[in-house]
Amino acid sequence: ATATTADTFRPALHYAARNTWLNDPNGLIFHDGVYHLYYQNNPLDNVWGNMSWGHATSPDLITWTEHPVAISCDEDEDIFSGSIVFDRDNTSGFGTDSAPPLVAVYTSAFKPGSAHHGVQAQSLAYSRDGGYTWTKHSANPVLNRGSAEFRDPKVIRYTGNTGSYWVMVAVEATDFQVVLYKSEDLKSWELLSTFGPANATGGVWECPDLFLLPVDGDPENLKWVLTVNLNPGGPNNGSAGQYFVGDFDGTTFTSATTVTDGLQDPARLGEYQWLDWGRDYYAAVSFSDAPSNRRLMIAWMNNWEYANQIPTSPWRSPMSLVREISLTTIEGEPRLAQQVAGDLTAWADPAATLRLETVDIVEGQHVLDGAAGSVQRIQVTILQGTADEFGLVVRGGETQGTRIGIRPAEGRIFVDRRHSGQRDFHESFASIDSAPIRTLDGSYQLTIYVDRCSVEVFAQGGQVTLTELIFPSATSTDVSLYAIGGAATAKDLRVTGYA
Ligand code: FRU
Repeated sequence: ATATTADTFRPALHYAARNTWLNDPNGLIFHDGVYHLYYQNNPLDNVWGNMSWGHATSPDLITWTEHPVAISCDEDEDIFSGSIVFDRDNTSGFGTDSAPPLVAVYTSAFKPGSAHHGVQAQSLAYSRDGGYTWTKHSANPVLNRGSAEFRDPKVIRYTGNTGSYWVMVAVEATDFQVVLYKSEDLKSWELLSTFGPANATGGVWECPDLFLLPVDGDPENLKWVLTVNLNPGGPNNGSAGQYFVGDFDGTTFTSATTVTDGLQDPARLGEYQWLDWGRDYYAAVSFSDAPSNRRLMIAWMNNWEYANQIPTSPWRSPMSLVREISLTTIEGEPRLAQQVAGDLTAWADPAATLRLETVDIVEGQHVLDGAAGSVQRIQVTILQGTADEFGLVVRGGETQGTRIGIRPAEGRIFVDRRHSGQRDFHESFASIDSAPIRTLDGSYQLTIYVDRCSVEVFAQGGQVTLTELIFPSATSTDVSLYAIGGAATAKDLRVTGYA
């Protein structure tokens, strides 16, 4: 029998809806021992439309259970992106003191014929059963600027010198601006400040987030991070996410890495900070209330350039793996480093594990015996030798393969998916996408997560990440090492297959 595309591409380690479309992650929260992932969902089709919040939960950030649609569009509004808070003190009054509610803050995209037609404004819904059923607030919207491009509210609880209150970050998307608001009760909002335009502004600003992280794990040295997704205008075209490290004083976010002149110069994109340099890591946002103060992020693993055309069915678009992000000092500056948050140990297939201490990579491409698989984690440190370029080919076969390579002289790492499998569904899909990489004394450490339709590359301890969709044939499962123009050496190679 011929495998359907659902069989071939349905991810094993990533979330995808059963038989519908999804885009942005929404309302991420850890509550009552469960991770909740809501998401932009078309409950009726596998292309964008009828936007509602789909819902899945996970105990471990790896296995997800799909639930009924949580918040539905209706004749007046589509339900665009937003966030959820646990209203512990029942400030909203939607619950009781002994049974405080979860409150969703979402964008109402008002439809033709509705009272607010043409406007995007912020609305509330609440849940009294831990996030499974939701009721829209009767006095929506609660924050209306009369704008057609005001969306994607992320609400956090702020406590500092100026008091303790709710803070919303949202965007005026076409103004390249993050707007910050304050509230005591989630219902009435007061403007605090705006941030931007700054840095990358080659596309609309969407889905912002704001959170506090220790630098190098030092609880005395905390920095605020503002993340802003933009579409298009990413470093390798299309959708991507940038971030700013700085300070938030309860009113205003400021960042020393802000550039406000020459914004439209594409040559400057390499100077900005990116959450991920690949083509398929968009609308990244973080979980509220994650245990142990972990900052956990997930993104939609797709790109608006070709999102509606990727060759999967009946579902369309996976989420990324959930990542734990932290701030580490790199070249004197606090920068984000990322690693996969969930523990995959329980799914490892001992029969599909390969460990090699040292492999000399002579010029050419070398299939690794005993490493074949379509779902795996590959860990390796490559020592630069005489080669001009070296790396791996994953999901390879006679004619296919996705190349993950490093060119040390150029200081670049890249993913080449020109021969990765199906690619003709959109003219811009086949691509080589690259990122700057710094050597660690001539060595390059890579952790690569391969799933049925994706690769996620974490380089140099997660200082650089590249996330890309690929659509290889089910039989393309070879892993190779390669070198061009000389030799290199692989150390501590470990390939773990997952069942
Ligand atoms: C980002 C986005 C958001 C919006 C949602 C609509 O991908 O455009 O700005 O809320 O998708 O589905």
